[in-house]
Amino acid sequence: MSSTPHTTTNSGAPVASDAHSLTVGPNGPIVLHDHYLVEKLAQFNRERVPERVVHAKGGGAFGVLEVTEDVSQFTKAALFQPGTRTEALARFSSVAGEQGSPDTWRDPRGFALKFYTTEGNYDLVGNNTPVFFLRDTIKFPDFIRSQKRLPGSNLRDHDMQWDFWTLSPESAHQVTWLMGDRGLPRSWRNMDGFGSHTYQWINAGGERFWVKYHFKTDQGHEFLTQADADRIAGEDADHHIRDLYEAIQRGDHPSWTVYVQVMPYADAAGYRFNPFDLTKVWPKGDYPLIKVGTLRLDRNPENYFAQIEQAAFEPSNFVPGIAASPDKMLLGRIFSYADAHRYRIGTNYAQLPVNAPKNEVHSYSKDGAMRFDFAAADRPVYAPNSHGGPAAQPSLVGDAGWESDGELVRAAATLHAEDDDFGQAGTLVREVLDDAARDRLVGNIAGHVGQVKSDELRQRVYQYWRNVDETLGKRVEETVGR
Ligand code: HEM
Repeated sequence: MSSTPHTTTNSGAPVASDAHSLTVGPNGPIVLHDHYLVEKLAQFNRERVPERVVHAKGGGAFGVLEVTEDVSQFTKAALFQPGTRTEALARFSSVAGEQGSPDTWRDPRGFALKFYTTEGNYDLVGNNTPVFFLRDTIKFPDFIRSQKRLPGSNLRDHDMQWDFWTLSPESAHQVTWLMGDRGLPRSWRNMDGFGSHTYQWINAGGERFWVKYHFKTDQGHEFLTQADADRIAGEDADHHIRDLYEAIQRGDHPSWTVYVQVMPYADAAGYRFNPFDLTKVWPKGDYPLIKVGTLRLDRNPENYFAQIEQAAFEPSNFVPGIAASPDKMLLGRIFSYADAHRYRIGTNYAQLPVNAPKNEVHSYSKDGAMRFDFAAADRPVYAPNSHGGPAAQPSLVGDAGWESDGELVRAAATLHAEDDDFGQAGTLVREVLDDAARDRLVGNIAGHVGQVKSDELRQRVYQYWRNVDETLGKRVEETVGR
């Protein structure tokens, strides 16, 4: 007897044929009561969930965060206590391209992490750059539309991109990163990751700190030239997914050394840059890197859809000892992601194995589409109650706040001594890049700007780069002119 299992319907009943629909005679019409055919077609029509509105193209893997150092003076979070090992999921992505787009289009790369800690899931949803294009959430939908497609032709459009960037000078620092080597990592294994925002850490004594996360690749930085990236885009659109999957499959497990920069709570007010401005870094001379441990990826997903496509990362997933900061981008993201998941995956997305925490859940959430877990029938469905239902922990109140008091306004944040739009971008160009990297930067920008159709806009672009660095701006203009 063959050991091949018999096909069944979704309800488990045996199926007569996977080759022939039920018809009236061999040449006759298909009948509606071929419910197995109907089930097959209907299921197929529903195989997709909407792709992510940004970061649609990506891949990921599971691994472990191991804390090798003692940072308990800064945070009480269980996952950061010395010696702790926490299972993790990482998803890497490009931002503007759709699900089938080439992995090697120039773009920031997403670096999204989910840590399954003993105190609930902690998600750190960052990029491969320490800064971002914007400093206020309200501009994000406009920014993304300018990077995506024209409404009529459905083409991406350089004029739209540079129009937005030049009218949003706070983008200069991130655009400088993007046009440089970091905009084209050789693989996801060869790039750093950053939490990018400033977050808050709270220690066991209730003391608060501001922190930034850095994940430094142990594989070394490697980049693609524009020409290589263009070629690979045609040869293998899934270059980065393949690289990660095959590396893990052959036992070459990529790792990142994890560091934080820590700012004492009281320093924020007087720091030379606004520490909650996502377009700024904290120079390491001001706040040096403090080592925390290692993140290593060692397990490929068994099923891409269930474990990567349906993975739901959310900057609102904090655990005790870690919290938000007054960063106006972070605060907007704290709303946005869970809302996106409810739309994209469904209201009970947190129940899926990849999203569910490893510790017990005692929430009062119930019901809704596709709900399959439920509390015991005698557990109350409301709080407070006098029947022994879960109770919140008042000891956590006030654990993770900051002072804030003022009129409701729509205004830019107060400037700190050295705040401006172009300063740190200029420092990056002059002091961080070497001559060869600067030459590539000029070439990359010129190649991009060369595709801008409007003369008036090109002039604005040259001025934008002259504001970053006079010489850079001149060289870009000369190169495009040629
Ligand atoms: C994905 C919103 C800024 C990193 C997403 C998604 C939304 C979103 C709606 C899709 C989520 C999903 O469907 O699963 C926003 C808003 C932002 C913002 C409103 C501005 C306020 C940022 C910043 C970073 C970032 C500053 C990095 C520092 C990511 C990453 C993903 C993502 C890595 C993909 C997560 C994954 O792999 O599933 N964002 N985003 N975003 N965003 Fe943002």
